[in-house]
Amino acid sequence: PARIFSGMQPTSDSLHLGNYLGALTQWVALQDGNEAIYCVVDLHALTVGPDPAVLRERTRRTAAQYLAAGVDPERSTLFVQSHVAEHAELAWILSCHTGFGEASRMTQFKDKSAKQGAEGTTVGLFTYPVLMAADILLYDTAKVPVGEDQRQHLELTRDLAQRLNSRFGAGTFVVPEPHIVKETAKIYDLQDPTAKMSKSAGSPNGLIELLDNPKTIAKRIRSAVTDAGREIRFDPEHKAGVSNLLTIFSALSGRGIAELEADFDGKGYGDLKVALADLVVEWVTPFQARVHEYLDDPAALDAVLAAGAEKAREIAAPTLDRVYERSGLLARR
Ligand code: TYM
Repeated sequence: PARIFSGMQPTSDSLHLGNYLGALTQWVALQDGNEAIYCVVDLHALTVGPDPAVLRERTRRTAAQYLAAGVDPERSTLFVQSHVAEHAELAWILSCHTGFGEASRMTQFKDKSAKQGAEGTTVGLFTYPVLMAADILLYDTAKVPVGEDQRQHLELTRDLAQRLNSRFGAGTFVVPEPHIVKETAKIYDLQDPTAKMSKSAGSPNGLIELLDNPKTIAKRIRSAVTDAGREIRFDPEHKAGVSNLLTIFSALSGRGIAELEADFDGKGYGDLKVALADLVVEWVTPFQARVHEYLDDPAALDAVLAAGAEKAREIAAPTLDRVYERSGLLARR
């Protein structure tokens, strides 16, 4: 069995359809036959300066959405990043091996710091990818299921693993592979199908939040931007909007794109949007009910997270010991 690790930031009340299709569905699938570890990365969320009470609430909400999507705490380890101190400790070690220029080239940092302005940019935002590398390397992770936007961070993680292996000896770290599923690696904004769906997008109408009112969700899908043509065909270059809708349809229904094209042959964009809106609402309604069940019992949810942190620590602690020892830190007695 391969070790799998991934995480999401609790920076919003709801995950969106891009998080779900790009990452969460892969997480659920990879539980079979692998040893999966899934994390709510609350330390990463601190980089956006959240209100403390809101962060706590969103951390539970994010965990509840993992569970409602099918992350099974009997088979996988589910925990909160700040509950395992080794993440922050390994991040320090890795930061001492990361070039300043190397970190400066991370495009997400450039985008986010441009948005927050020079004043709002913090050292935490700058070293964010190093903490992410620590998350992954602590668990001797083989595969990291993420969306396309995390590819560069995974490259940095691999570079750091290889660098420390050559400085401190083979076997210091496992060099992880990204697990990026081409079809759903980038779900696009419904109003601007050239931009990725994101919580910080221009218009809220381009975003499908999993915990939003199903009526709002349906309306946003029905008003998705398409093109001046008529034909329902998968052609991302010329028909970005329609292709994005077909991608979402295919991923949620498990039906192939060609089959959907055949089904909608001779029908109009309106038919596609109505059918997709129905499909999403049909899926999201029981999903929301499950999320609320988990949130209605925070003590039980916290117990799942505490048990997960315990299991995670058992793997993380020996990795950190190994790296401390190889780094020349005097052993703790
Ligand atoms: P985050 O919280 O921004 O996003 C969570 C996951 O959702 C994927 N994703 C998308 N996939 C397809 N289409 C989209 N429009 C879309 N938008 C987001 C992301 O690629 C991600 O997989 N840095 C990470 C969190 C992190 C992490 C880690 C991930 C911290 N440590 C260790 C993996 C391993 C992030 O910001 O994800």
